[in-house]
Amino acid sequence: YIWDLTIPHFDSFRKKLERSFKEIKSDVNNEYSWGEIATYIPPLAKADPNWFSTSFCSTDGQLCKFGDQEKFFSIQSIGKVVTYAFLHNMIGDEVHKWVGEEPSGVAFNAPIFDKLGRPHNPMVNAGAIMVCSLIIYQNKSLEDIIDFFQRASDTPRAKIDSQLYLEEKLTGYNNHALASLMLANKAFPQQTNAEETKRFSDSALDLYFMNCSLMVNVEQLARFGAMLANNGINPTTGERILSPKTVQAVVTLMTTCGMYNGAGKFTKDLGVPSKSGVSGGLLTVIPGIGAFCTWSPPLNEEGNPVRGIAMIYKLNSIYSNFNL
Ligand code: DON
Repeated sequence: YIWDLTIPHFDSFRKKLERSFKEIKSDVNNEYSWGEIATYIPPLAKADPNWFSTSFCSTDGQLCKFGDQEKFFSIQSIGKVVTYAFLHNMIGDEVHKWVGEEPSGVAFNAPIFDKLGRPHNPMVNAGAIMVCSLIIYQNKSLEDIIDFFQRASDTPRAKIDSQLYLEEKLTGYNNHALASLMLANKAFPQQTNAEETKRFSDSALDLYFMNCSLMVNVEQLARFGAMLANNGINPTTGERILSPKTVQAVVTLMTTCGMYNGAGKFTKDLGVPSKSGVSGGLLTVIPGIGAFCTWSPPLNEEGNPVRGIAMIYKLNSIYSNFNL
């Protein structure tokens, strides 16, 4: 299976990855070229459905990339992995006083909460907004998240697309509603003074929108994923970025919740921790081996990227039939 993959002959692996990429790109039977691009804001609606890139980075730092690999896209919900990892590494399981640890079974933006009134997990929108509030509570900012991402991926600093951020903020009614519901549930930490609490929730939302608007490419995310696959050590710099406990928390929640209400089937078929984003990115970590990031804008019904999923199915079938 794909998780049995070892990379002694990176070149032969690279060729298989390239072949899979080309097969999906030149799809003739409409097997991989369906799906809808996100249209809720103009910067995403303008995306070309044919954009397609992929990158793999191994736990020994070998990297390959194909297609539109130099193009940048907004990190969107893959940023939930970054913020959760950053926070969990600071405060450990204390996070889960405020955010649950179970799949929600419904859409990523659903206005539902667990029995305690908390978001179901850090991978859905409400959970990520809560994670942002806890990051602010730790006196950390977007700059600290960007620093962390830079150290973790050993790539140039990510920047936000300010136009995209403003559009997200202006039209993200559903996210504003989720924050209000969490205020009503008294779900945020330290809700004592109403004015202060409202300000706090507004800054959490703001950080969430900015984090979604970070511009990245497949190489940066594959390198970030390889750090997770390498139990928290950046394979290129050798720096420990995350504790093994945090890595375990992150990859487990990616496995159970990263593909939203498509997580059950994806995990049954493939069993690999993954996280999708609405701009078409898909990050997949193969613990001990490396990480893939694929980007192509068309999404399936659950809001997960069609070509990204196809890449993982294809590679999984190659590696269940061939031994490297
Ligand atoms: O908050 C939102 O709805 C978007 N900015 C991000 C959601 C997202 O990426 C969901 N992923 N598939």
